[in-house]
Amino acid sequence: MGFTAWVLLVPLAATSFNRAIKALGAPKWQLLHKLVYAISVIGLMHFIWMHAGKNSFAGPIVYGAILATLLGWRGWKRLRR
Ligand code: HEM
Repeated sequence: MGFTAWVLLVPLAATSFNRAIKALGAPKWQLLHKLVYAISVIGLMHFIWMHAGKNSFAGPIVYGAILATLLGWRGWKRLRR
């Protein structure tokens, strides 16, 4: 999971400077960078699995709650538009 998240972060890092944004064009750049939503969920799964062995879920629960709030807020705003 961690490796998958890392691999998916590479194209975002590689296109996170002004010239890359201009070269791609805003719509394509935005589409590509929507990957961050999937990465955040994959990161959460990685975090949960890393803590499952230690049976300590406080960190993943806090991260998951913050992520759910932020993604929920985005989703709600999108639905309203
Ligand atoms: C090749 C890629 C990766 C590998 C091999 C990897 C491996 C690991 C391992 C072995 C741990 C457990 C460490 C421990 O027990 O103290 C860990 C923890 C963690 N990783 Fe990754 N990881 C990778 C990429 C990522 C990425 C890209 C993210 C974020 C998007 C991430 C987020 C985390 C988090 C939040 C923890 C828990 C840290 C903690 O609770 O102290 N990892 N990872």
